[in-house]
Amino acid sequence: MDIAVIGSNMVDLISYITRMPAEGETIEAPDFALGCGGKGANQAVAAARLGSEVLMVTRVGDDLFAANTVANFEANGIDTTFVLPTVGTSGVAPIFVDEQSRNSIIIVKGANASLTPADLEAAEAEIARCRLIVVQLEIPIETVHAAIDLAVRLDVPILLNPAPATHGLDYARVAQCEYFVPNETELATLTGMPAGTTNEITAAAAALIEKGCRNVIVTLGSRGVLWVSTDGEVLIPQDNPVEAVDTTGAGDAFIGCFAHEVTHGSTVHDALVAANAYAANSVTKRGTQTSYASREDFTAWRRA
Ligand code: RIB
Ligand code: NA
Repeated sequence: MDIAVIGSNMVDLISYITRMPAEGETIEAPDFALGCGGKGANQAVAAARLGSEVLMVTRVGDDLFAANTVANFEANGIDTTFVLPTVGTSGVAPIFVDEQSRNSIIIVKGANASLTPADLEAAEAEIARCRLIVVQLEIPIETVHAAIDLAVRLDVPILLNPAPATHGLDYARVAQCEYFVPNETELATLTGMPAGTTNEITAAAAALIEKGCRNVIVTLGSRGVLWVSTDGEVLIPQDNPVEAVDTTGAGDAFIGCFAHEVTHGSTVHDALVAANAYAANSVTKRGTQTSYASREDFTAWRRA
């Protein structure tokens, strides 16, 4: 196994809208797409499509979505031993994408709220065999903390993507992560420091590096990423010009690709360059996982 993703899965219910309805108003939207999503599952699928062997630790409900989600993991070659059944609804995400390809997302965690530290203990032997653990914040915060504690105990590097921005994340634990990958808002939420300008972002990231975190990688959307480590900071610009159709899940595409690259011999810098490209490719297509390229398609697109 290359990567253990400890995280969420959701069913994405994407409406392509011309505008949001006002309170009490009903409006029509021109189009809709149903797809597999959730930040954890998205990152797992992106890495798997690029060729990584991925173990998914997650919970699905007992509704009509669950079997489809399991089948989707299997179709992508992901190990589903720890895709655990839960009584109740699966995670769902009503998503609204407007004509400027901007999205608004509601997440209903459902079964994801039942992923416990005990579930991680049950998967411990398998997680120990992975070269990287990947976690996000669509599962209970105590499970995120348990994942970091487990990573430290097993001496497996961990990547934490603190999305969506959530209060209550333990700073001392974050400082134990090999890779911390927030956007500006998520960085500000964790550190309590401003993260508006490049100088502010660098200062907030540097504080975390000083406490022990090895790499802080701040995603800046269409501007690229700022990578801060003990060697200083490097801006890796998003230099893949594309026409955005749907940016939903682009951040997860980025992380899945980065995780794949660093577990397959790339330097952090080269992994970030590849991840920028993979995310850019994903925004040219509709949907979340539906827009993640295979290794072959991605390689051909980068050459073109
Ligand atoms: O990051 C995009 C994802 O956020 C969507 O797939 C949705 O399910 C929410 O989890
Ligand atoms: Na997309």
